[in-house]
Amino acid sequence: MKQPQIGVYGLGTMGSALALNMAEKGVSVAVANRSPDKVPAFLDEAGDLAARISGQDSLEALIGALPPPRLLLVMIPSTAPMDAFLDEVIPQLAPGDTVIDAGNADFHDTRRRAARLAEHDLYFVGLGVSGGEDGARHGPSMMMGGSPESWDRLHPILEAIAARYDGTPCVARLGPDGAGHFVKTVHNGIEYADMQMLAEVYDLMRFGAGRTPVQIADAMARWNEGPLRSYLTEITARVLRYDDEATGQPMVDMIADSAGQKGTGRWTVIEAVRLGQSATMIEGAVAARAWSAEKPLRQRAEAAFGGARREIGIDEERLERAMLAARVLEYAQGFRILAQASEDFAWGLDPARIAEIWRAGCIIRADMLDDIAAAFRDGPPEGQLLLSPRFANALEQGIPELRALVGQAVAAGFALPVLSAALTWFDTMRQGRGTASVIQAQRDFLGRHGFERVDRDGGGYHGPWWE
Ligand code: 6PG
Repeated sequence: MKQPQIGVYGLGTMGSALALNMAEKGVSVAVANRSPDKVPAFLDEAGDLAARISGQDSLEALIGALPPPRLLLVMIPSTAPMDAFLDEVIPQLAPGDTVIDAGNADFHDTRRRAARLAEHDLYFVGLGVSGGEDGARHGPSMMMGGSPESWDRLHPILEAIAARYDGTPCVARLGPDGAGHFVKTVHNGIEYADMQMLAEVYDLMRFGAGRTPVQIADAMARWNEGPLRSYLTEITARVLRYDDEATGQPMVDMIADSAGQKGTGRWTVIEAVRLGQSATMIEGAVAARAWSAEKPLRQRAEAAFGGARREIGIDEERLERAMLAARVLEYAQGFRILAQASEDFAWGLDPARIAEIWRAGCIIRADMLDDIAAAFRDGPPEGQLLLSPRFANALEQGIPELRALVGQAVAAGFALPVLSAALTWFDTMRQGRGTASVIQAQRDFLGRHGFERVDRDGGGYHGPWWE
């Protein structure tokens, strides 16, 4: 066996899948796990690929097996266990070695860890990996944040294992330290919004228009042949076709309506607000998950007030146009967070490149991302996707449909945290003069905060209420 080119530590679902992907693409890899008994089982499972995998029974042995400067990819929880791992590994590494955190990490932790390793002349890479187990095994989309030196050494391996779009690997170095993990976090925020949007559409079709899950699956499958084509549209159509074997009921009816979340959607919202942005569609989706977990409260409120949903008419073509507009707005909000973070942290993020590496392998892969990449290459007015001529049609045709849909649905008692947030955001941004003059008057009245005037330069003006 060739000397291992990289070590993988942590043979859970994602670590195992990445190691097998590497071996399959001709990369020789050494592996280890905290509990060493996982290693022989993993090698068994690897079959022929085990010829390119060297199993090690401890972290020390793994480090010993890697030729310096080492590449060590770690797939363990990116929270406290990652810090404990770094305490253990730092004394064993040599200057120039790179540790790669391939989990979903809070990018603030990644920045802190990169600074910590730099004190030891070590590199720390935050690698966002998207695509779930299947992606990790056969081709994920990967968002790398780290030093150019680490990228030079890593990119042949990452490019070999990445998903491909028209032959181009879906991986890029996006910036230093936390940049990759931040982009992955926003990816997940968009993922949350897109999933919730599809759930809202399901709700309207099922309980407003009386369609069966299979009829809704048929509509979604049809949409998936057009501009709405995406992995999430496809899998939503797929899951709605299943029945529960035990009861014969639609599977979706047998699943408890309380959604989990591991935190990346919430992080997106927190960071957006910190950056002075507000990704209201993502917030809507995070809120919907939080409210979904409050089952007893919802049941009591339903008993007290009654459920509100009433019948509505649905036209699938109009709904498709409304969803298309909402999806444009969802991405527009996500990219605004990225642009602001890039500015605040001086990362130099390239939005077109990000859209390109999201075109295959990741959970939010969608046909629209090719247009988004092109829109950013053109340089949209104000840097805003919202103003890109490439999406003018989708918005011009879709917004009236979204307005009709939201209006009708709200009147019929449906809750649409994401679709209504999309419309509200668009209507706010299209209004050259908004409501903030009243806020400024209130602020001046209550706290003498001062305001700017439309007809004079400078600030610090006060209202007649102070005379
Ligand atoms: C991906 C996904 C993945 C995420 C799951 C679950 O890009 O492959 O985003 O990283 O962990 O989708 O996320 P939640 O449990 O928060 O829904």
